[in-house]
Parts: sequence; structure tokens; C-alpha cells
Amino acid sequence: MERTDYGIIAVQLKALIAAEPNYISVLANASALLMESMENLNWAGFYLVMEGMLKVGPFQGKPACVLIRRGKGVCGSAWNDDRTIIVPDVHDFPGHIACDSESLSEIVVPIHAGGSVVAVLDIDSPEKNRFSEEDKKGLEQFVRLLEESVDWRKASLDSL
Ligand code: SME
Repeated sequence: MERTDYGIIAVQLKALIAAEPNYISVLANASALLMESMENLNWAGFYLVMEGMLKVGPFQGKPACVLIRRGKGVCGSAWNDDRTIIVPDVHDFPGHIACDSESLSEIVVPIHAGGSVVAVLDIDSPEKNRFSEEDKKGLEQFVRLLEESVDWRKASLDSL
């Protein structure tokens, strides 16, 4: 499998943000950019913290669970613990929420604004052990760009 070029992805994301910084446009294109640029994914997108839970936001892939409670599944755990979680095999993660039975591994990265988690980036793969420490680093940098550039107040999120 080709290694993902996070440098090129960052350049492309910056160009998309420069074209239009509203959060729906940026997150929709950000999920499409990841799906196009990373090999062997079946879902890439965002859950937004709204009314005390995670609600599905812009994504690429099959229709997914709409609401996830804090502390539940990989996404709710990454929000609650405020840390990136790599799941090498979803069958070994207690409480994993299966939206697509094809997903075998997953990475979730929290997104911050105003000092709290306002959203998470969630990426699934049909391949076990798809996500490495290098992916974690690259995706955390990708999320930093989103944190700096998106006007999160317009998203009516809880923490702002
Ligand atoms: N697997 C996630 C749910 C979201 S879907 O993967 C798109 C979880 O356990 O939180």
C-alpha cells in the first residue's frame, strides 16, 4: 500500500479553506479529500458535538449512525478522553459501534475550539491494522489546520 502524502493533502486542504472557510464547505471537501488521497478506506468524515452528543456531519461513505453518546464507541471515547484512538481490529474494541460491517479498523481524532472538543474526525478501513503512528501524526496535523481555519462558532456547537 502507498504511504499517504500528508504534505500534499495539507496544501490541498489550505487551498480549499482559502476558497471558502464556512464549516460545511470545508468539512465536506475535507472528507472527500481524505477519501481520495488515502488508500483502502470505506468511510471518512466528521461527527459534531451538538446538544451534548455527537451528531453525524459531512462524510464520504455509506449512511452512518446519526447520534453517538459521550463515552460510547470509538468516537464517543475519543471525545470523552480527548485523545486520538487507533483501533487495529474493531472486533477487539469493546462497545465499537458498527455502522458498516465492512469496517475492520478505525482511527478517530478529536477537533478542538475554545479549549474543548467540538467534533471528531472518524476514518474507517475494510483492512485490519490500516492506521499507523504516521497516519496519526498526519491526521492530527490535518485537524490542526481545521482547528485554526474553520469558524466553529457558525456551527452552533455546544462548547462555544
Ligand atoms: N465506529 C464508530 C461509529 C461511527 S462509524 O464508524 C462511521 C464508533 O464506534 O464510534
